[in-house]
Amino acid sequence: MDEKKLLDQIKEAARDAGRIMKEAGHPKISEKGGHANFVTETDEKIQAFLIDRLSKVLPEASFVGEEDGQDVFSRKMEHGYVFVIDPIDGTSNFISAYHPSVVSIGLLKDKGPYMGVIYNPYDDMIFEAVKGGGAYMNGTAINCTDAPLSDSLVAFGTAPYYTELRDETFRILKSLMSECVDIRRSGTAAWDMCCVATGKCAMYFEMTIQLWDYAAGALIATEAGCTVTDIKGNPLSYTGPSSALCRSKGVKEIPACFLE
Ligand code: IPD
Ligand code: CA
Ligand code: CA
Repeated sequence: MDEKKLLDQIKEAARDAGRIMKEAGHPKISEKGGHANFVTETDEKIQAFLIDRLSKVLPEASFVGEEDGQDVFSRKMEHGYVFVIDPIDGTSNFISAYHPSVVSIGLLKDKGPYMGVIYNPYDDMIFEAVKGGGAYMNGTAINCTDAPLSDSLVAFGTAPYYTELRDETFRILKSLMSECVDIRRSGTAAWDMCCVATGKCAMYFEMTIQLWDYAAGALIATEAGCTVTDIKGNPLSYTGPSSALCRSKGVKEIPACFLE
């Protein structure tokens, strides 16, 4: 397989998907169930577009995508290639024109991360990584920061529909507030991991995210020098939901508030 050609084709698909996002105007919105859990016709349109495009790029690949009932990693996907797609990561941002929202495409091989591409169409920023090959933003190598938490921002996420995770999330945040410069909430987990990968933040965490939220971002951050695990330090499964903790080089230990 020509790895470079494959990556280029995935990036081209991500750029085209980003164009659809940027040109969407005011899409029709539906609730998926739970508080503030939305999907728009653009999420569905982009996912269908990407599945069509990427199945031509790598015909043997299976697909997991957030929308249209394609959201399960099945046992038969444990071997071979699986594209994991979040057509719009940051749907609430997208609906409210509160940028960014990104296209996230992970490619798994035999149940592990192989390639990751994240595209922010509003700032025309494309992030990419191939396992073992470093991480890049618009073609330039990126590295996380080695600054300590005390000199850095921390990003976090918490989906409004996981009401049961709120108390624990805000307990951890309250503790981290005194250990870091300040806290940020972007509204897109994939983007948060790109921010750690580029040294804007020293750390990102979330109590539950889905496979499509982290498949690309965790690889990009890892290839930029970060350590990405669940919040207790266990490896991510790459088959389903997980908590996530993305630490840059300066955050050598998992902060105690995660381990209480
Ligand atoms: C959400 C975003 C958000 C995170 C949520 C995700 P969506 O994805 O990544 O930052 O806090 O957990 O569900 O719904 O916008 O694709
Ligand atoms: Ca998402
Ligand atoms: Ca989404």
